[in-house]
Amino acid sequence: SSSWVLMVTAQTPTNIAVIKYWGKRDESLILPINDSISVTLDPSHLCTTTTVAVSPAFSHDRMWLNGKEISLSGGRYQNCLREIRSRASDVEDEKKGIKIAKKDWENLHFHIASYNNFPTAAGLASSAAGFACLVYSLAKLMNVKEDNGQLSAIARQGSGSACRSLYGGFVKWIMGKDYNGSDSIAVQLVDENHWDELVILVAVVSSRQKETSSTSGMRETVETSPLVLHRAKEVVPKRIIEMEEAIKSRDFPAFARLTCSDSNQFHAVCLDTSPPIFYMNDTSHRIISCVEKWNRSEGTPQVAYTFDAGPNAVMIARNRKVAALLLQRLLFHFPPQSDADLNSYIVGDKSILK
Ligand code: PMV
Repeated sequence: SSSWVLMVTAQTPTNIAVIKYWGKRDESLILPINDSISVTLDPSHLCTTTTVAVSPAFSHDRMWLNGKEISLSGGRYQNCLREIRSRASDVEDEKKGIKIAKKDWENLHFHIASYNNFPTAAGLASSAAGFACLVYSLAKLMNVKEDNGQLSAIARQGSGSACRSLYGGFVKWIMGKDYNGSDSIAVQLVDENHWDELVILVAVVSSRQKETSSTSGMRETVETSPLVLHRAKEVVPKRIIEMEEAIKSRDFPAFARLTCSDSNQFHAVCLDTSPPIFYMNDTSHRIISCVEKWNRSEGTPQVAYTFDAGPNAVMIARNRKVAALLLQRLLFHFPPQSDADLNSYIVGDKSILK
């Protein structure tokens, strides 16, 4: 009969890079020019929830994002769907009397509904959570027997940063050497309990969609920036080693120094692109100055800041006490309504890592 529907729902948090990925060596497979490291956020604040359904009544694959139907015809969706379908196994639901053989999946179609609990495409890494969640929920639905590392290589083909959202805690995306990308995967460095004093705070400077997508931005940077290769070859490899060490030993001063420097260098290569790419705005710059001044006056860093492909500030406080002070200072210097640009703050009310 064609009346049955089988569904799976999954929830995936976004991740924020502390050592940035910027630049591809292969655009269609999404292979990066350097390793990167990120922290996966608390799912209660910035996450995607995706429900995938399969039924013989569905005639083609369809997807809705935040309630609006979107096209699945793009190469990134097609690559993810193809890769995950090819790994499907037999599925049996005895209660519903459903039996799907491995070979049946080729002719079955999905309906996918995905929701972000935060602004989409505003430089808050919505595609990271989105593709990770899509791949993970489809893998569960189709009884795919691969580990998260292998699933990360599929999510990577949707959006590079998505591969890092398949794990909690601190995660490294290894750039890999293979021409086919099979070794360009994410690995967990430490789990979400390892450094649970940290608290994250996001200043939503603007919830407008960004002007330069990360895809075209990266392409322009790789094609025109004389600095980006120096960054990828000389700077990042050293930082990756130092960052892993800082995370393992919970060395906040080293962590903050590396995180801030790497964010600033990423924006420097954007500025070094022709024509230059501006992701941060005046408010972003003022937030940086404010944190830098505070860190200097304390003698040791209290807060790390990092900015992705947009003006929103992600700040990581060394503990709850500092986070409370940080919010107080930000609200004083950057009250949401009075600043034309600043909308709101999102505060992790518990550890970012849990
Ligand atoms: O995966 P993409 O294409 O959304 O690119 C992400 C790029 C940055 O967010 C700026 C850096 C990173 O490593 O996440």
